Amino acid sequence: MALLNENYLKLKAGYLFPEIGRRVKAFTDANPEAAKRLIRCGIGDVTEPLPQAVVTAMHQAVDEMAVRSTFKGYGPEQGYEWLRSAIAENDFRSRGIEVADDEIFVSDGSKCDCGAILDILGDTNRLAITDPVYPVYVDTNVMAGHTGDADATGAYAGIHYLPCTAQNGFVPEPPKEPVDVIYLCSPNNPTGATASRAQLEAWVKYALAHNAILLFDAAYEAYIDDPTVPRSIYEIPGARECAIEFRSFSKNGGFTGVRCAFTVVPKSLMASTKSGEKRPLHPLWSRRMTTKFNGVSYIVQRAAAALYTPEGKAQVKALVEHYMGNAKLLVAGAKAAGHTVFGGVNAPYIWVSAPKGFTSWQAFDRILGEANVVITPGSGFGSNGEGWFRVSAFNSRANAEEVSRRLQSLKW
Ligand code: MLT
Repeated sequence: MALLNENYLKLKAGYLFPEIGRRVKAFTDANPEAAKRLIRCGIGDVTEPLPQAVVTAMHQAVDEMAVRSTFKGYGPEQGYEWLRSAIAENDFRSRGIEVADDEIFVSDGSKCDCGAILDILGDTNRLAITDPVYPVYVDTNVMAGHTGDADATGAYAGIHYLPCTAQNGFVPEPPKEPVDVIYLCSPNNPTGATASRAQLEAWVKYALAHNAILLFDAAYEAYIDDPTVPRSIYEIPGARECAIEFRSFSKNGGFTGVRCAFTVVPKSLMASTKSGEKRPLHPLWSRRMTTKFNGVSYIVQRAAAALYTPEGKAQVKALVEHYMGNAKLLVAGAKAAGHTVFGGVNAPYIWVSAPKGFTSWQAFDRILGEANVVITPGSGFGSNGEGWFRVSAFNSRANAEEVSRRLQSLKW
């Protein structure tokens, strides 16, 4: 009989968001009246329509596909040159950051890239992952067989967890011991914390000293308003020798349903063979993409390129301002209700303490049952998330105002 990948059997429960969806469905099926006033602030999914520049570009691209002379079949697996160049120029070089066009690899999402990157890394790397954390970093490593079993707290053997707590402002410090691959996310999902330049410098220093690789998830960089907060790991000298960066159009251009992202793999980034020979990772990632991926559709890449036009940039700015306006309301509401609140500044996630004596899931049930609002329980992101919950600012203004009110009127 064919064997299955037993690593999947080590995974705890379901993926967090389907599990929340299951619980919400059970609640709404049982409470049809409450279901009518349900507001979802759980998964960080955008709510506002696509920017007009994107809509126009997509329509034009469809028209091109409809005519023999402009029809496109397979494109370059790494992305069309005009998009890679627009990304490298606008997101990096115009900000004084050295990134070449061919160091950009266009994909259908950062979640996919975070999982796929494991293809080009060894199986025995010592992993460091924050707790709480975006669950994809952990689960993809479990699936790939890079961990042992989970213990009663949900922590997997073989992962070095970096505790993120209120004490360290939810930004981890480099560990005392050597690790090889480190996942960092700033602005952070789920806590909304951002790493300062000094904190990122400490990480780059650590990575260079230990020949480690930083997997830097910058999917929420568009939300950084404070000019002192780095938007890219490559703002830190030395990062081109130790970091891969993941970026997404999901949360800036509203592409969660369109699907487009990119990963930056600098040509100067090396990793070691078992025999100790240093080799660049760039050709491996290029090989991986050309073998296992056929590129993002032409229409979607045209849509992404439109985000870099003057109109596109202005429309993205307006979208970000809209969601950050929501964040402000939600932070104010949660604070007025007596919660301790992190995030919501330079980040679209608000990280809120559950009242004393409530676990994250108990808070989830109470907020769902009585305020009819869906949040994300902090413990779903790791054991240090216990006692916290995440509120997403991705919503309409009316819903954000209403959630802010309901949080304040909720009796615990
Ligand atoms: C989240 O809610 O954490 C995000 O939407 C998940 C994602 O971007 O994959």
